[in-house]
Amino acid sequence: MPLPEKPQLGDPLAAAHPSEETLRLLALRRSTTVKTMIEPGPSPEQLAEIMEIGARVPDHRRVCPYRFVVFDGDARAEIGPVFREGFMQDNPDASDAEATLESQRFMRAPVIIAVVFSPQTEHRTPIWEQTLTAGAVCQNMLIAANAMGFAAQWLTEWYAYNRHVLNAMGLEPHEQIAGFLYFGTAEEDPKERPRVEAASLVSHWQKAD
Ligand SMILES: Cc1cc2nc3c(=O)[nH]c(=O)nc-3n(C[C@H](O)[C@H](O)[C@H](O)COP(=O)(O)O)c2cc1C
Repeated sequence: MPLPEKPQLGDPLAAAHPSEETLRLLALRRSTTVKTMIEPGPSPEQLAEIMEIGARVPDHRRVCPYRFVVFDGDARAEIGPVFREGFMQDNPDASDAEATLESQRFMRAPVIIAVVFSPQTEHRTPIWEQTLTAGAVCQNMLIAANAMGFAAQWLTEWYAYNRHVLNAMGLEPHEQIAGFLYFGTAEEDPKERPRVEAASLVSHWQKAD
């Protein structure tokens, strides 16, 4: 299913896109645990489209506080020793078997995209708002991947916070991982999990007497 042609600056665009399919996807959306993710994953062209959709996100004052690092093919194994070292630094008493397991984190899925939160710290758009934009990027990408027929999961796990790993991934000190987005095919379909009742979160503001 090819994406529509990219609109040019100033092109008229629809204000709404009535779509039962989109509502269905959003109402039934479910992450697939990476444990059950198998080949195939998105092709390089599909990945580019997923990132294109990720970048089409609300962004106050167009800060673009995010960037992408793709881990596919051999790169998933090649980062393994870095995971091992980072894990051993945090867990010096860990066994070799545990370290080996940790080194294989990126071998669990065909493709992983690290969405890097890369804020402009001096910008007048608050960091909080820049953070929200990076989260929206991740969610857009999960939905795009699902709509293309792929399973997806948004994880951080320990290595999102390990300086040794972050250095090896090329993150600057002011950057953070918004998410590691794992993409593949579900070996088995996920099941519904407990969900909050949205109605229980709602109040209607009323003017005080
Ligand atoms: C920023 C962020 C980080 C997450 N990190 C983890 C994680 O490290 N491990 C995990 O099991 N789930 C993590 N999750 C939750 C999963 O992505 C997912 O939401 C969860 O499995 C529930 O599935 P659902 O998306 O179908 O509700 C994270 C979610 C977010 C938004």
